[in-house]
Amino acid sequence: MRALALWSFLSFLALAPHSIYASVLAIDYGTDWIKASLMKPGVPFDVLLNKDSKRKIQASVAWKNSDRLFGSDAFNLASRFPSDSFSSLKLLQAAPRDAESVGFYTTISTSEVTETSRKTVALKRSDGTEWTTEELVAMQFAYVKQLAESLAGEKVHDVIVTVPPFYSQFERDAVADAIEIAGLRTLALINDGTAVAVNFAMTRTFPTPEYHVIYDAGASSIRATVVQMATGKDGKTSTPATQITVHGVGYDRRLGGAELDRRLREILINAFVTKNKRDIRGDKRGMAKMWKEAGRVKAILSANAEAMSMIESVAYDIDFRAKVTRAEFEDACADLQSRFAKPISEALANAGLTLDNITSVILTGGSTRTPMIQTAVKTFVGEEKISLNVNADEAAVLGAALHGASLSRQFKTKNIKVTDMTAHDIQASYFATSTTPLSRPRTISTLIFPAGSKTGTKKTLTLKRKEDFSLWLDYKQLVAPGFPMQILEAQISGVTEALQNLTDLGAVDPVVKATLSLSESGFVAVTDAVAYGEIKDDSIAGKLKGLFGGSSSSAQETETGSAENTPPRDTETPSESQSASSSSASPEASKVPEKIVPKENTIPLNVSVVFTSIPPMTVEEKKAARARLRDIDQQEAAKNRREEARNTFESYLYRVRDLLDNDDEESPFKKCSQASERSAMSDKLEESFLWLHDEGDNAKTTQFLEKRSSLETLERPIIHRYKEIEGFPKALNNSQMWNWSTRLFLTEAKTNLTAETAAGLPSKWTAEELAALEKTLIEHEKWLNEWVEKQKARKFNEDRVIETTEMRARAKVLEQHLQKLVRRKVPKVKKPKSTSTSATESATATPPEETPEAQEPPIEGEDAQKPVMEEEPPKPTGHDEL
Ligand SMILES: *[C@@H]1O[C@H](CO)[C@@H](O)[C@H](O)[C@H]1NC(C)=O
Ligand SMILES: *[C@@H]1O[C@H](CO)[C@@H](O)[C@H](O)[C@H]1NC(C)=O
Ligand SMILES: *[C@@H]1O[C@H](CO)[C@@H](O)[C@H](O)[C@H]1NC(C)=O
Ligand SMILES: *[C@@H]1O[C@H](CO)[C@@H](O)[C@H](O)[C@H]1NC(C)=O
Ligand SMILES: *[C@@H]1O[C@H](CO)[C@@H](O)[C@H](O)[C@H]1NC(C)=O
Ligand SMILES: *[C@@H]1O[C@H](CO)[C@@H](O)[C@H](O)[C@H]1NC(C)=O
Repeated sequence: MRALALWSFLSFLALAPHSIYASVLAIDYGTDWIKASLMKPGVPFDVLLNKDSKRKIQASVAWKNSDRLFGSDAFNLASRFPSDSFSSLKLLQAAPRDAESVGFYTTISTSEVTETSRKTVALKRSDGTEWTTEELVAMQFAYVKQLAESLAGEKVHDVIVTVPPFYSQFERDAVADAIEIAGLRTLALINDGTAVAVNFAMTRTFPTPEYHVIYDAGASSIRATVVQMATGKDGKTSTPATQITVHGVGYDRRLGGAELDRRLREILINAFVTKNKRDIRGDKRGMAKMWKEAGRVKAILSANAEAMSMIESVAYDIDFRAKVTRAEFEDACADLQSRFAKPISEALANAGLTLDNITSVILTGGSTRTPMIQTAVKTFVGEEKISLNVNADEAAVLGAALHGASLSRQFKTKNIKVTDMTAHDIQASYFATSTTPLSRPRTISTLIFPAGSKTGTKKTLTLKRKEDFSLWLDYKQLVAPGFPMQILEAQISGVTEALQNLTDLGAVDPVVKATLSLSESGFVAVTDAVAYGEIKDDSIAGKLKGLFGGSSSSAQETETGSAENTPPRDTETPSESQSASSSSASPEASKVPEKIVPKENTIPLNVSVVFTSIPPMTVEEKKAARARLRDIDQQEAAKNRREEARNTFESYLYRVRDLLDNDDEESPFKKCSQASERSAMSDKLEESFLWLHDEGDNAKTTQFLEKRSSLETLERPIIHRYKEIEGFPKALNNSQMWNWSTRLFLTEAKTNLTAETAAGLPSKWTAEELAALEKTLIEHEKWLNEWVEKQKARKFNEDRVIETTEMRARAKVLEQHLQKLVRRKVPKVKKPKSTSTSATESATATPPEETPEAQEPPIEGEDAQKPVMEEEPPKPTGHDEL
């Protein structure tokens, strides 16, 4: 059913002519689960299956000694190796060590948290090695990449990853860094609610615009996204196009399935403590088991009023058993009830809409299966508005894949345009120029991208500065408890000289213009900065042309809107003038005529960006992390090769032992081997088993291969003998066949020649030619008779005197000689009396004797047992009639 519905999208897909890497990977990276999808022509568009054919992969990575595990294997390992199993890593992305989310993580996880040099979080394995969140997430991305590549049958490079709409720049950087460490390329990050909207719009049209709320309850957060969907005509192509516009988001960063699991685990822990009068909290294995059990019990309680919890030997050898009711669970979550639907009302408020404007509330995310959450949402929006039309688990990843495919421009997909927004107020700040030398500098801030700003836009900030200065980009409000507000500092230099130059050239009151961008994936940046001044005197401007003709034009498309300067916000410093004006980066905006601003009056300034709070990983750091991951990949590959060599060696030893132990005197091995050979093998076998036992655990791959090879050397002559004996009858048959065919041909040809000579007719062959063939035949026969006799005298366990390859080679010589004459063309005569068939005539173009193939490829190994090649006896012309 599902496959059928998805298949229907394929009609939209077609590969653009010149694409190199056609595949696009989409990953929905969650706190508990990873879902992935691959877009590749010829591969049915669906969710990627893991090695166990599961549609979702547990977001875990673990080590069992030196073996790395992923998915549920990794998650389940926590109850045995609690310090080496890492899950819920999404909670840690970009988080400073003392952030609230890290605090929450430590309550649900058994992993040991440490701090990196970037003040973010790393996790420590039991062997003491530390792995940053980015590295651990990258391992999972790389694992998914591998799954995708084995499905695609080619390398996969481009990836689109979902993120919650509230993700800050720091968290988005952490995702992008992990992608890079995994050896992938970020096509885009897409907000998960938006991805669901794309999936929803894929199969629908909206002749009249509709508003929908995507309500996504995940493991670590709940978010609501208000989107408008409208189908109209694409301006240029006038094909139907659907526009998705995000108008508002609301979220609760701390509430989700994990918090419910934690509360349920508390119930279990209390039951354990009450009954056994011992605390389990200090027991890492026990806590890991309880955590897993809480998830299981929660799932049961979603469909049942009560559940039985049972954990064998949870801790202190105690088998745990307890009954939990849904009522009890919901009681423990009573304080959360009011928070479940709140993101919806916030999102609506941000969008300036009310529930009346909403067509439906689309439920997605695994936690929407929890009855108390569903009830809360239904109560708030009304049952009739609830839409369960999208797959709660897969809508986001499928929507992301569709969006990724359209971004990659290598696919033709249904035309869906997306306009997203930022969830946080982003402001630009700088120090005011001090009026008196001693006064403390004041900070002036301006809201450059207020929450709700469209992504994929640029804004120009115009500042009256005389000297080098810094521009800070920061969040106006806390994005998450414990996270910094400052994003970056852009140091703008070269101001004085540039302004002086403009002034010298006649510009009045030149200013500094900085371009700030908010990318489609939600990253802010100071793209560039220029000194700008209007030069009134045309003649001077003319002079300038030669000097600055090649100056940066990147600022141009954004300058158009910044001509008017709003009065300074800071009334105390009238000299400070700043204005922020927006201009869309869409193609329409860049079509504004350039004549308003001649390009001669801008001079590019130096912008260097420093990160003062949580820096993204540097190129070197990412390189090092990538090398580290590659290193373990290589170690694992080497280990696998070694395991394989060991296993093959071991099973070979057992096979040889079986051969030697077989008492059946008629077994091929016994028949074809001599006692001395068997005893040599037996000794070698004994020695090999001993070596395997003593050294097997430490031996290298090459040692296994060498050991196997030395035993194989002893076995090889026996196998060869056997195969020769087996192949002999067929080879002999072949030789005899050519012998026989040649004899037949000669008899008939001689008769004809005699008759033709008598009748004075032309002949195909001369008597000499026929005699030469006969000579070849007799030589072949002689050789065959002689050596077949010798061969027959040999015992099975003695080496052969003639090889089947030689027999075939000799038969070939005869065959070619025969063919040469058979294919001879009938000589042209005035009175055509040709009886030869057309086939013989057409074959003369390439006389076969000119293509020497005296040697057949040597037949060895398995092939010799069943030779594929068995020449058809030639059909000398007329032989049927005889
Ligand atoms: C939302 O609904 C209100 C009341 O029904 C209506 O006045 C308003 O125009 C609607 N807004 C939009 C954007 O449709
Ligand atoms: C810009 O920065 C670079 C490197 O910091 C420096 O070498 C160069 O002189 C600067 N240019 C200006 C115009 O300040
Ligand atoms: C300013 O003008 C001087 C002299 O023409 C030139 O050498 C210098 O490069 C200019 N500086 C900038 C930043 O354009
Ligand atoms: C020899 O070949 C002929 C014809 O292909 C076949 O009928 C016969 O069984 C073969 N004999 C042996 C021993 O393979
Ligand atoms: C070759 O063929 C001839 C005639 O068919 C036969 O008499 C002779 O025994 C054959 N020789 C061998 C070695 O098969
Ligand atoms: C011999 O002559 C007969 C009758 O003309 C013909 O059918 C046959 O093909 C000839 N044989 C050969 C080997 O050329």
